[in-house]
Amino acid sequence: MTMKRLNYQQLSKNSPCLCFSDKERRNRQQIFTNLPRKRAFFNNTLKKFLIALSIGLFFALNSIVFAQVDGLLPECRYDDIPAKYTDSKDWQISLLDTIYKLDENYAPSDLVNLSTIGFDKRFSLRDFVIDDLVKLLKAAKEAGNPLRIQSSYRSYDYQKSTFNYWQEKLGQTEALLTSARAGHSEHQLGTTVDFKSLTGLAPWDYNDWATTPAGAWLKENAHKYGFVMSYPKGKKELSCYSYEPWHYRYIGIEYATAVYESQLTLREWLWSLAGYLHQE
Ligand code: DAL
Ligand code: ZN
Repeated sequence: MTMKRLNYQQLSKNSPCLCFSDKERRNRQQIFTNLPRKRAFFNNTLKKFLIALSIGLFFALNSIVFAQVDGLLPECRYDDIPAKYTDSKDWQISLLDTIYKLDENYAPSDLVNLSTIGFDKRFSLRDFVIDDLVKLLKAAKEAGNPLRIQSSYRSYDYQKSTFNYWQEKLGQTEALLTSARAGHSEHQLGTTVDFKSLTGLAPWDYNDWATTPAGAWLKENAHKYGFVMSYPKGKKELSCYSYEPWHYRYIGIEYATAVYESQLTLREWLWSLAGYLHQE
């Protein structure tokens, strides 16, 4: 059999696979002409969608992650946003208020029963608070203003019943200004103490406990032992709670002295510190 050499025209004529009708050829041509256009359209739409998605995600993450540190201190409101810096080693800088809260499972693992330093066994605090607390109590006593403890560590559940108690007693509006909702209390950190005088009424039953000798001494000296009054007088709009001259949080001598000297509320001070820490 002789091999025939066929050129392209001959092939087109002879081979069925290359023989398209005019209509079919036009259709195929159109498909191939439109393909890059469709691809470009798809690529552009996808690009735009991905850009929009990235921008959206950026702002969403930004507001969640940096909510506590960007810009101005937020106005007091009632919310339930997980607080930043709540690792047990962050006890000095955890910011709790009516907005930011601790998890219900947050409980320090190093709580020490205060029966070890002569108080009722229902009281406890984190171990590193004890030394300075003992020094503070000794100094207060030596100054003729002995102090006792009204309240110390409170678990999430305990705080829940505390808040409910005040809500029933005072009504919701007043309770919200004087008692933290569960998760929002500095008492849950295990570093906070409500003090009272050795004798007499509960500190909140005085018109202003800080005008009694014991309360006044504490106001002037607590920072020397690492304690800060969290809710000072006339600062409700900044601290989010009514004046509580008995409620002191331990943040260590260096920080407590800085807060005392700044004349800022602890909430303002921690807010600006958190911002500073974030920028580092
Ligand atoms: N009394 C303060 C706000 C607390 O309940 O922690
Ligand atoms: Zn308190």
